Amino acid sequence: GLSNTKEMFKHANENGYSVPAFNFNNMEQMEAIIEACTEMGSPVILQVSAGARKYIGKEIVPFLAQAAVAYARSKGSDIPVALHLDHGPNLETVKDCINYGFSSVMIDGSHHSFEENIKVSKEVADYAHQYDVSVEAELGILAGVEDDVVAEKTIFTQPDEVEEFVSKTGVDSLAIAIGTSHGAYKFKPGDNPQIRLDILKEIERRIPGFPIVLHGSSSVPAKFVKLINENGGKIADAIGIPNEQLRDASKSAVAKINVDTDGRLAFTAGIREVFAKNPSEFDPRKYLGPAKEYMKEYYKEKIQTVFGSEGA
Ligand code: G3H
Ligand code: 13P
Ligand code: NA
Ligand code: ZN
Repeated sequence: GLSNTKEMFKHANENGYSVPAFNFNNMEQMEAIIEACTEMGSPVILQVSAGARKYIGKEIVPFLAQAAVAYARSKGSDIPVALHLDHGPNLETVKDCINYGFSSVMIDGSHHSFEENIKVSKEVADYAHQYDVSVEAELGILAGVEDDVVAEKTIFTQPDEVEEFVSKTGVDSLAIAIGTSHGAYKFKPGDNPQIRLDILKEIERRIPGFPIVLHGSSSVPAKFVKLINENGGKIADAIGIPNEQLRDASKSAVAKINVDTDGRLAFTAGIREVFAKNPSEFDPRKYLGPAKEYMKEYYKEKIQTVFGSEGA
């Protein structure tokens, strides 16, 4: 069956790696993730946003997740697989997800006041733990787009708030803002992309060993942006997080790193390439197949260059 993230994070941080948390929106993407992670022998967190859950259909999601586990086992792989709610907006949504078999949830109270964030995160932790479901909360605000909400500027997590936050809420992991951001446009041309590993260090000093989560960690591979633009797309000046900085973070208490945008870019690059080369193609297998292969190759490469979770 599905696993929660507690053992995954403990093992990751004892062994200097982080667990991939890949968002998925359909069957092809789920299969690409599972093929990549079984071939790499990496644990995996399959995550769905509220929007993705609505798109797939909330009654379908648990069956896709069970299919993911069965698919991994059919390949002789015993990797742990979690089904995680990404950016859970409130307790009501969390309850519904737990009803539908999620093994892990995020409560994103980062836009609330510190006190209100503690209140809602504690409510979710108290509820979820009755069902052995792990809970991620967030402190600080990431720039970028999520579920159509745009935050203009990063508000870095304040290290002097983290100890009180995790002890008062009882959550199992903490997402922090150290300069990563959601979407494809994380930096501007000419910027020197830097995440604040110094703030991460300071946070680690306050809550030693506590599992930290990084959102907004797509690297926005130039290869996919180029393929999209060469094949009729129009994606300008998209710049992501350098893989080397994320690799350093993986060796620390960072136990989970979220990637959504890169999967979307790989998927889109694959489809555009097929259509540009063969405008008469109309068999979905002929364009979704190559798109799936691009995603799979990307996930495998990211596991090697960033997560370090290969064979874990
Ligand atoms: O953090 C946001 C994720 O990339 C999910 O995005 O709400 O468009 O599915 P979405
Ligand atoms: P990216 O947009 O960088 O892929 O971030 C995804 C994310 O944080 C999902 O929660
Ligand atoms: Na780690
Ligand atoms: Zn996120």
